[in-house]
Amino acid sequence: MDPVLNLTRVGYGAMQLTGPGVYGEPADRDNAKRVLRRAVELGVDHVDTSDFYGPHVVNELIREALHPYDGLTIVTKVGYRRTPDKSWVPARTPDELREAVHDNLRNLKVDRLDVVNLRVDGSHVDLEEPFTVLAELREQGLIRDLGISNTTRLDQAEKIAPVVCVQNHYNIAHREDEATLRKTAERNIAYVPFFPLGGFTPLQSSVLDEVAREHDATPRQVALAWLLHRSPNVLLIPGTSSERHLEENLASAALRLSEQDLTRLDTIG
Ligand SMILES: NC(=O)c1ccc[n+]([C@@H]2O[C@H](COP(=O)([O-])OP(=O)(O)OC[C@H]3O[C@@H](n4cnc5c(N)ncnc54)[C@H](OP(=O)(O)O)[C@@H]3O)[C@@H](O)[C@H]2O)c1
Repeated sequence: MDPVLNLTRVGYGAMQLTGPGVYGEPADRDNAKRVLRRAVELGVDHVDTSDFYGPHVVNELIREALHPYDGLTIVTKVGYRRTPDKSWVPARTPDELREAVHDNLRNLKVDRLDVVNLRVDGSHVDLEEPFTVLAELREQGLIRDLGISNTTRLDQAEKIAPVVCVQNHYNIAHREDEATLRKTAERNIAYVPFFPLGGFTPLQSSVLDEVAREHDATPRQVALAWLLHRSPNVLLIPGTSSERHLEENLASAALRLSEQDLTRLDTIG
């Protein structure tokens, strides 16, 4: 158990449960629900989602498979909407954000959202207005905790409301966000890297392969274990639509990397 948000360190990212392009229904809805239930059976207490996955499809699957979420923390995101051509369009006016929070409440069938991340499209975006809207919704009791995503503007967000998590692109081969990772560690804020396995560009490295062979593990498990070793405030949300991959990913929490392994792995990225 990690002190940050009191969650076990490996959760589940639900983005892979849609049709192609993070859009529409999955090919097999029953499989998607089986993966969600299996995750919880195996000890996952933290599921990452959004109403813009589908749109709405993933939240509906989560509700059908897991409601009433006993002991489970559901982390959602707002700040985007989808168009029929599968594009991702910013949606962070006050009205759009309020509507997104109400959509999430309805689709997840809860009175209060556990955690809402404001997802923007980079650190150039001023968080003042959109994060203030979410802070007000939190004050009204519709949201328990807030986070930010795709931005390094943690200082600005924290002046508006407490931040419990930051969700940015980070993995063993993509480490541009080290400064935010350090800052969150100092402030006991969860750092939740998205694309922990490389996302749409799967991680590939001969060093990962070698270390994996020595531990009788897979390269993906080593990549996830590296993130867990990187800092104690890291929480993982690897995404998969496969029960087998889910089991493999969760087992990475038990993998202990030596100082020597970490030095070799440091050469990646
Ligand atoms: N805040 C943001 O802007 C943002 C952006 C992207 C994602 N996210 C969140 O982050 C979560 C994780 O990101 P992600 O799912 O895009 O990327 P990821 O976890 O880095 O990788 C997922 C990809 O790896 C494959 N995979 C997973 N486990 C595997 C295994 N053990 N062996 C082989 N292949 C495996 C999956 O395919 P299979 O289905 O075949 O396993 C999928 O194609 C998402 O679910 C989402 O909740 C947030």
